[in-house]
Amino acid sequence: MLILGIETSCDDTTAAVVEARGGRFIIRSSVVLSQIKTHRQFGGIVPEVAARKHAENILPVIDTALRQAKVQLSEIDRIAVTRGHGLMTSLMVGVETAKTLSYLNTIPLVGCMHLEGHMLSAYFSTRGDRWFKFPALSLVASGGHTELIVMQGIGKYKKIGGRLDDAAGECFDKVAKILGLGYPGGPAVSARAKAGNPDKFSLPSPMLKRPGYDFSFSGLKTAVLYYVQKHGRPAGRALSDFCATAEKAITDVLVAKTIRAAAAYQVRSITLGGGVAANRRLRADLVSVAAEQLPAVDVRITRPEYCMDNAVMMALVGFYGQPVKDGWKRITADPNFEISN
Ligand code: KG4
Ligand code: ZN
Repeated sequence: MLILGIETSCDDTTAAVVEARGGRFIIRSSVVLSQIKTHRQFGGIVPEVAARKHAENILPVIDTALRQAKVQLSEIDRIAVTRGHGLMTSLMVGVETAKTLSYLNTIPLVGCMHLEGHMLSAYFSTRGDRWFKFPALSLVASGGHTELIVMQGIGKYKKIGGRLDDAAGECFDKVAKILGLGYPGGPAVSARAKAGNPDKFSLPSPMLKRPGYDFSFSGLKTAVLYYVQKHGRPAGRALSDFCATAEKAITDVLVAKTIRAAAAYQVRSITLGGGVAANRRLRADLVSVAAEQLPAVDVRITRPEYCMDNAVMMALVGFYGQPVKDGWKRITADPNFEISN
Protein backbone atom coordinates (compact mmCIF):
# COMPACT_ATOMS: atom_id res chain seq x y z
CA MET A 1 0.00 0.00 0.00
CA LEU A 2 1.29 3.45 -0.93
CA ILE A 3 0.22 6.22 1.43
CA LEU A 4 0.52 9.93 0.74
CA GLY A 5 0.86 11.83 4.03
CA ILE A 6 0.03 15.54 4.26
CA GLU A 7 0.73 17.61 7.38
CA THR A 8 0.29 21.40 7.67
CA SER A 9 -0.83 21.83 11.28
CA CYS A 10 1.65 24.53 12.23
CA ASP A 11 4.42 26.22 10.24
CA ASP A 12 5.93 23.39 8.18
CA THR A 13 4.43 22.42 4.83
CA THR A 14 5.08 18.69 4.58
CA ALA A 15 4.24 15.70 2.40
CA ALA A 16 5.59 12.15 2.30
CA VAL A 17 5.09 8.86 0.52
CA VAL A 18 5.30 5.80 2.75
CA GLU A 19 5.01 2.25 1.52
CA ALA A 20 3.46 -0.38 3.80
CA ARG A 21 4.73 -3.80 2.84
CA GLY A 22 4.64 -7.04 4.83
CA GLY A 23 4.02 -5.33 8.17
CA ARG A 24 6.87 -2.85 7.65
CA PHE A 25 6.99 0.76 6.54
CA ILE A 26 9.40 2.11 3.97
CA ILE A 27 9.85 5.86 3.60
CA ARG A 28 9.83 6.53 -0.13
CA SER A 29 10.04 10.31 0.29
CA SER A 30 9.69 12.99 2.96
CA VAL A 31 9.53 16.67 2.07
CA VAL A 32 9.52 19.38 4.74
CA LEU A 33 9.31 23.00 3.68
CA SER A 34 10.11 25.06 6.76
CA GLN A 35 8.69 28.55 7.20
CA ILE A 36 11.11 29.41 10.00
CA LYS A 37 12.83 32.18 8.02
CA THR A 38 9.50 33.92 7.41
CA HIS A 39 8.34 33.75 11.03
CA ARG A 40 11.71 34.53 12.58
CA GLN A 41 11.30 38.24 11.83
CA PHE A 42 8.11 38.23 13.97
CA GLY A 43 9.70 36.27 16.85
CA GLY A 44 7.10 33.48 16.56
CA ILE A 45 4.49 31.97 14.27
CA VAL A 46 1.90 34.31 12.76
CA PRO A 47 -1.06 32.03 11.89
CA GLU A 48 -2.37 34.04 8.91
CA VAL A 49 1.11 34.20 7.38
CA ALA A 50 1.60 30.44 7.98
CA ALA A 51 -1.68 29.61 6.21
CA ARG A 52 -0.84 31.80 3.22
CA LYS A 53 2.59 30.16 2.89
CA HIS A 54 1.01 26.70 3.13
CA ALA A 55 -1.43 27.62 0.35
CA GLU A 56 1.47 28.75 -1.87
CA ASN A 57 3.60 25.71 -1.20
CA ILE A 58 1.38 22.69 -0.61
CA LEU A 59 1.03 21.56 -4.24
CA PRO A 60 4.74 21.93 -5.11
CA VAL A 61 5.61 20.06 -1.86
CA ILE A 62 3.23 17.19 -2.73
CA ASP A 63 4.58 17.11 -6.30
CA THR A 64 8.14 16.89 -4.99
CA ALA A 65 7.22 14.09 -2.58
CA LEU A 66 5.63 12.09 -5.42
CA ARG A 67 8.55 12.75 -7.75
CA GLN A 68 11.15 11.76 -5.16
CA ALA A 69 9.20 8.57 -4.44
CA LYS A 70 8.97 7.95 -8.21
CA VAL A 71 5.21 7.40 -8.07
CA GLN A 72 2.22 8.98 -9.80
CA LEU A 73 -0.74 10.24 -7.82
CA SER A 74 -2.83 7.56 -9.56
CA GLU A 75 -0.70 4.88 -7.82
CA ILE A 76 -1.45 6.22 -4.32
CA ASP A 77 -3.79 3.91 -2.37
CA ARG A 78 -4.61 6.23 0.50
CA ILE A 79 -4.19 9.83 1.60
CA ALA A 80 -3.54 10.57 5.29
CA VAL A 81 -4.00 14.17 6.35
CA THR A 82 -3.65 15.87 9.74
CA ARG A 83 -7.03 17.26 10.80
CA GLY A 84 -5.91 18.45 14.29
CA HIS A 85 -4.72 19.61 16.65
CA GLY A 86 -3.08 22.74 15.30
CA LEU A 87 -3.72 26.17 13.88
CA MET A 88 -7.14 26.23 12.21
CA THR A 89 -6.16 28.08 9.06
CA SER A 90 -2.98 26.02 8.63
CA LEU A 91 -4.88 22.75 9.07
CA MET A 92 -7.51 23.84 6.57
CA VAL A 93 -4.97 24.15 3.76
CA GLY A 94 -3.81 20.54 4.20
CA VAL A 95 -7.31 19.18 4.71
CA GLU A 96 -8.86 20.99 1.74
CA THR A 97 -5.96 19.97 -0.52
CA ALA A 98 -6.26 16.34 0.60
CA LYS A 99 -10.02 16.37 0.03
CA THR A 100 -9.63 17.79 -3.46
CA LEU A 101 -6.98 15.21 -4.42
CA SER A 102 -9.11 12.44 -2.92
CA TYR A 103 -12.19 13.52 -4.89
CA LEU A 104 -10.45 14.09 -8.23
CA ASN A 105 -8.52 10.83 -8.13
CA THR A 106 -10.93 8.64 -6.11
CA ILE A 107 -8.35 7.95 -3.41
CA PRO A 108 -9.59 6.93 0.08
CA LEU A 109 -8.93 9.61 2.69
CA VAL A 110 -8.13 9.33 6.41
CA GLY A 111 -8.23 12.31 8.80
CA CYS A 112 -5.43 11.91 11.37
CA MET A 113 -4.51 13.19 14.82
CA HIS A 114 -1.24 15.13 14.96
CA LEU A 115 -0.41 13.90 18.47
CA GLU A 116 -0.78 10.27 17.37
CA GLY A 117 1.71 11.01 14.60
CA HIS A 118 4.34 12.07 17.14
CA MET A 119 3.52 8.95 19.22
CA LEU A 120 3.91 6.54 16.32
CA SER A 121 6.97 8.34 14.89
CA ALA A 122 9.11 6.27 17.30
CA TYR A 123 8.66 3.41 14.81
CA PHE A 124 11.46 5.25 12.96
CA SER A 125 13.83 5.13 15.90
CA THR A 126 17.57 5.36 16.32
CA ARG A 127 17.43 1.63 17.04
CA GLY A 128 15.88 0.67 13.71
CA ASP A 129 12.57 0.84 11.89
CA ARG A 130 10.20 -1.49 13.72
CA TRP A 131 7.44 -1.58 16.28
CA PHE A 132 8.23 -1.41 19.94
CA LYS A 133 6.69 -3.77 22.44
CA PHE A 134 3.34 -2.88 24.03
CA PRO A 135 2.27 -1.69 26.50
CA ALA A 136 4.42 1.34 25.80
CA LEU A 137 4.62 4.75 27.43
CA SER A 138 4.86 7.62 24.98
CA LEU A 139 6.33 10.98 25.90
CA VAL A 140 5.47 13.58 23.29
CA ALA A 141 7.21 16.90 23.88
CA SER A 142 6.79 19.60 21.25
CA GLY A 143 5.79 23.22 20.78
CA GLY A 144 2.16 22.31 21.49
CA HIS A 145 2.39 19.18 23.62
CA THR A 146 3.87 17.72 26.77
CA GLU A 147 1.95 14.50 27.01
CA LEU A 148 2.40 11.11 28.65
CA ILE A 149 0.26 8.43 27.04
CA VAL A 150 0.04 4.74 27.81
CA MET A 151 -0.34 2.78 24.56
CA GLN A 152 -1.78 -0.70 24.99
CA GLY A 153 -1.55 -1.11 21.23
CA ILE A 154 -2.06 1.03 18.17
CA GLY A 155 -5.29 2.98 18.64
CA LYS A 156 -5.60 2.00 22.33
CA TYR A 157 -4.41 5.06 24.20
CA LYS A 158 -4.84 6.50 27.67
CA LYS A 159 -3.48 9.92 28.44
CA ILE A 160 -2.06 9.93 31.97
CA GLY A 161 -0.40 13.34 32.06
CA GLY A 162 -0.35 16.56 30.13
CA ARG A 163 0.57 20.20 30.22
CA LEU A 164 -1.10 22.49 32.72
CA ASP A 165 0.23 25.62 30.98
CA ASP A 166 3.13 26.10 28.53
CA ALA A 167 4.31 23.05 26.60
CA ALA A 168 7.99 22.05 26.92
CA GLY A 169 8.86 23.39 23.45
CA GLU A 170 6.97 26.59 24.17
CA CYS A 171 9.06 26.99 27.32
CA PHE A 172 12.28 26.58 25.31
CA ASP A 173 10.96 29.16 22.82
CA LYS A 174 10.00 31.67 25.51
CA VAL A 175 13.26 31.28 27.44
CA ALA A 176 15.14 31.86 24.18
CA LYS A 177 13.09 34.96 23.48
CA ILE A 178 13.80 36.41 26.94
CA LEU A 179 17.50 35.70 26.43
CA GLY A 180 17.41 37.32 22.97
CA LEU A 181 18.29 34.08 21.17
CA GLY A 182 15.62 34.27 18.48
CA TYR A 183 13.13 31.76 17.14
CA PRO A 184 12.78 28.76 17.32
CA GLY A 185 14.18 28.64 20.81
CA GLY A 186 14.78 24.94 21.41
CA PRO A 187 17.70 24.51 19.01
CA ALA A 188 19.14 27.94 20.03
CA VAL A 189 19.09 27.20 23.78
CA SER A 190 20.33 23.69 23.20
CA ALA A 191 23.26 24.86 21.01
CA ARG A 192 24.40 27.35 23.72
CA ALA A 193 23.85 24.77 26.47
CA LYS A 194 26.27 22.34 24.88
CA ALA A 195 29.29 24.28 26.17
CA GLY A 196 27.64 25.27 29.46
CA ASN A 197 27.69 24.04 33.04
CA PRO A 198 24.14 23.31 34.27
CA ASP A 199 25.10 23.78 37.92
CA LYS A 200 26.24 27.40 37.74
CA PHE A 201 22.76 28.89 38.11
CA SER A 202 19.74 27.89 40.13
CA LEU A 203 16.41 27.59 38.35
CA PRO A 204 13.35 25.61 39.49
CA SER A 205 12.78 22.21 37.85
CA PRO A 206 9.02 22.60 37.76
CA MET A 207 6.76 20.08 39.50
CA LEU A 208 9.63 17.62 39.91
CA LYS A 209 8.55 16.61 43.38
CA ARG A 210 4.78 16.82 42.88
CA PRO A 211 2.88 13.56 42.49
CA GLY A 212 1.06 12.78 39.25
CA TYR A 213 2.18 13.09 35.68
CA ASP A 214 1.20 16.61 34.67
CA PHE A 215 3.71 19.23 33.61
CA SER A 216 3.91 22.96 34.27
CA PHE A 217 6.62 25.11 32.74
CA SER A 218 5.28 28.63 33.20
CA GLY A 219 7.07 28.98 36.59
CA LEU A 220 10.42 28.29 34.98
CA LYS A 221 9.75 30.85 32.27
CA THR A 222 8.85 33.42 34.95
CA ALA A 223 12.00 32.61 36.95
CA VAL A 224 14.09 33.24 33.81
CA LEU A 225 12.25 36.52 33.19
CA TYR A 226 12.81 37.72 36.79
CA TYR A 227 16.48 36.78 36.61
CA VAL A 228 16.98 38.79 33.42
CA GLN A 229 14.99 41.76 34.75
CA LYS A 230 17.19 41.83 37.85
CA HIS A 231 20.62 40.97 36.45
CA GLY A 232 20.33 41.65 32.72
CA ARG A 233 20.86 39.08 29.99
CA PRO A 234 23.79 36.78 30.67
CA ALA A 235 26.45 36.85 27.95
CA GLY A 236 29.39 34.74 26.82
CA ARG A 237 30.27 31.90 29.14
CA ALA A 238 27.45 32.83 31.55
CA LEU A 239 24.91 32.58 28.70
CA SER A 240 26.03 29.03 27.96
CA ASP A 241 25.79 28.13 31.67
CA PHE A 242 22.36 29.76 31.94
CA CYS A 243 21.09 27.88 28.86
CA ALA A 244 22.47 24.61 30.23
CA THR A 245 20.66 25.23 33.55
CA ALA A 246 17.35 26.07 31.85
CA GLU A 247 17.64 23.10 29.50
CA LYS A 248 18.37 20.72 32.37
CA ALA A 249 15.46 22.11 34.42
CA ILE A 250 13.11 21.19 31.55
CA THR A 251 14.61 17.83 30.65
CA ASP A 252 15.03 16.65 34.27
CA VAL A 253 11.31 16.87 34.93
CA LEU A 254 10.44 15.23 31.59
CA VAL A 255 12.77 12.32 32.32
CA ALA A 256 11.78 11.92 35.99
CA LYS A 257 8.03 11.82 35.33
CA THR A 258 8.42 9.51 32.35
CA ILE A 259 10.49 7.02 34.36
CA ARG A 260 8.08 7.22 37.29
CA ALA A 261 5.08 6.59 35.00
CA ALA A 262 6.83 3.77 33.14
CA ALA A 263 7.45 2.00 36.46
CA ALA A 264 3.91 2.59 37.75
CA TYR A 265 2.26 1.33 34.55
CA GLN A 266 4.75 -1.52 34.09
CA VAL A 267 5.29 -0.80 30.43
CA ARG A 268 7.67 -2.75 28.21
CA SER A 269 8.79 0.25 26.15
CA ILE A 270 9.22 3.99 26.47
CA THR A 271 8.97 6.07 23.30
CA LEU A 272 9.97 9.66 22.74
CA GLY A 273 8.71 11.94 19.96
CA GLY A 274 7.92 15.58 19.11
CA GLY A 275 10.19 18.52 18.33
CA VAL A 276 11.76 18.64 21.82
CA ALA A 277 12.76 14.99 21.37
CA ALA A 278 15.49 16.36 19.09
CA ASN A 279 17.14 17.71 22.25
CA ARG A 280 20.47 15.99 22.93
CA ARG A 281 20.28 16.12 26.72
CA LEU A 282 16.74 14.75 26.82
CA ARG A 283 17.64 11.86 24.53
CA ALA A 284 20.81 10.97 26.42
CA ASP A 285 19.31 11.32 29.92
CA LEU A 286 16.20 9.30 29.12
CA VAL A 287 18.34 6.45 27.83
CA SER A 288 20.78 6.50 30.75
CA VAL A 289 18.20 6.89 33.54
CA ALA A 290 16.01 4.15 32.05
CA ALA A 291 19.02 1.83 31.71
CA GLU A 292 19.80 2.39 35.37
CA GLN A 293 16.32 2.28 36.87
CA LEU A 294 14.30 0.18 34.41
CA PRO A 295 16.84 -1.99 32.58
CA ALA A 296 14.19 -4.31 31.12
CA VAL A 297 12.36 -1.46 29.40
CA ASP A 298 13.14 -0.81 25.74
CA VAL A 299 13.69 2.91 25.04
CA ARG A 300 12.80 3.98 21.49
CA ILE A 301 13.72 7.47 20.46
CA THR A 302 12.48 8.92 17.19
CA ARG A 303 15.28 9.69 14.74
CA PRO A 304 15.99 13.45 14.81
CA GLU A 305 14.66 14.04 11.27
CA TYR A 306 11.22 12.72 12.28
CA CYS A 307 10.98 14.51 15.66
CA MET A 308 9.86 17.82 14.19
CA ASP A 309 6.58 17.97 12.28
CA ASN A 310 6.62 15.73 9.23
CA ALA A 311 4.20 13.83 7.00
CA VAL A 312 5.87 10.43 7.39
CA MET A 313 4.40 10.03 10.86
CA MET A 314 0.96 11.01 9.57
CA ALA A 315 1.15 8.36 6.83
CA LEU A 316 1.75 5.82 9.60
CA VAL A 317 -1.35 7.02 11.48
CA GLY A 318 -3.30 6.92 8.21
CA PHE A 319 -2.33 3.30 7.61
CA TYR A 320 -4.04 2.23 10.85
CA GLY A 321 -7.01 4.61 10.49
CA GLN A 322 -10.26 3.92 8.71
CA PRO A 323 -10.86 5.83 5.48
CA VAL A 324 -14.06 7.85 5.83
CA LYS A 325 -16.70 7.11 3.19
CA ASP A 326 -16.96 10.21 0.99
CA GLY A 327 -14.10 11.66 3.03
CA TRP A 328 -13.67 14.41 0.44
CA LYS A 329 -17.06 15.70 1.58
CA ARG A 330 -17.00 14.94 5.27
CA ILE A 331 -13.55 15.35 6.81
CA THR A 332 -13.01 18.68 8.56
CA ALA A 333 -10.10 20.43 10.23
CA ASP A 334 -10.41 20.42 14.02
CA PRO A 335 -7.92 22.56 15.98
CA ASN A 336 -8.80 20.72 19.21
CA PHE A 337 -8.59 17.13 17.96
CA GLU A 338 -6.91 15.29 20.86
CA ILE A 339 -6.96 11.99 22.76
CA SER A 340 -10.12 11.89 24.82
CA ASN A 341 -10.14 9.89 28.05
O1 KG4 B 1 6.90 18.93 16.87
P1 KG4 B 1 7.24 20.31 16.46
O2 KG4 B 1 8.00 20.49 15.17
O3 KG4 B 1 5.96 21.20 16.33
C1 KG4 B 1 4.87 21.11 17.19
O4 KG4 B 1 4.03 20.20 16.99
O5 KG4 B 1 4.84 21.94 18.09
O6 KG4 B 1 8.05 20.97 17.69
C2 KG4 B 1 8.57 22.26 17.63
C3 KG4 B 1 9.17 22.59 18.99
C4 KG4 B 1 9.62 24.05 19.11
O7 KG4 B 1 9.09 24.57 20.33
C5 KG4 B 1 11.13 23.95 19.19
O8 KG4 B 1 11.74 24.98 19.95
C6 KG4 B 1 11.33 22.60 19.83
O9 KG4 B 1 10.33 21.78 19.24
N1 KG4 B 1 12.67 22.03 19.56
C7 KG4 B 1 13.60 21.78 20.50
C8 KG4 B 1 14.77 21.30 19.83
N2 KG4 B 1 14.48 21.28 18.49
C9 KG4 B 1 13.20 21.71 18.35
N3 KG4 B 1 13.56 21.93 21.84
C10 KG4 B 1 14.67 21.60 22.53
N4 KG4 B 1 15.81 21.17 21.96
C11 KG4 B 1 15.92 21.01 20.63
N5 KG4 B 1 17.05 20.56 20.09
ZN1 ZN C 1 4.13 18.56 16.21
